Amino acid sequence: MRDFRIAPSLLSADFACLGQEVRDVIAAGADIIHFDVMDNHYVPNLTVGPLVCEAIRPHTQAPIDVHLMVKPVDSLVPMFAKAGADIITFHPEASEHIDRTLGLIKESGCKAGLVFNPGTSLSYLDHVMDKIDMVLIMSVNPGFGGQSFIPHALEKVRAARQRIDEYTAKHGGEIWLEVDGGIKVDNIAAVAAAGADTFVAGSAIYGQPDYQAVIAAMRAELAK
Ligand code: DX5
Ligand code: ZN
Repeated sequence: MRDFRIAPSLLSADFACLGQEVRDVIAAGADIIHFDVMDNHYVPNLTVGPLVCEAIRPHTQAPIDVHLMVKPVDSLVPMFAKAGADIITFHPEASEHIDRTLGLIKESGCKAGLVFNPGTSLSYLDHVMDKIDMVLIMSVNPGFGGQSFIPHALEKVRAARQRIDEYTAKHGGEIWLEVDGGIKVDNIAAVAAAGADTFVAGSAIYGQPDYQAVIAAMRAELAK
């Protein structure tokens, strides 16, 4: 069986006490902290930058997965690497030179990934698989937490799984397949069955008082 990772999105956490929210969700059994960066340009919302990433860094040993919803991308890469990011992903439409941006992320010592909106073709992966550590499939349009899962994303997850398996069978290595948007206890099993191994969940976890109970219920679904 695949290793499954649960990545709560801080977007739905209490921003007045982020350090505590990071510690609580990891203590509740989460594996990764998903950190959504929005610029009110590439997406119509504004969140947080490297300063906040740096501020939460001492609160956990867990990987920080920085999801850049920004345009341009490149200038922020070294800043997030310095702020303690472990993984940096970006949307290919937001970068003028995708291969260069992936290279910058790798050179900065972070894992790199591309993010695919519901309407974005996976063909952006065609010539850069050697620089990819993670593929992130959006199951909502980016910009806000609490949106409904777009069912068509499952087909995209299956297609991404096939690409990853074909590539790693031939070249080795490991590429994670993350899904982001509208993931809940009642659909996480279907997302896993489609091929995902890493699950972002914002409102489903931070919207409930008992984080541990939600994460345990998600893991129970994944074990079925
Ligand atoms: C949306 C963000 C997501 C968001 C997910 O643009 O990238 O990470 O926080 O939130 P939920 O799980 O509530 O859909
Ligand atoms: Zn995200």
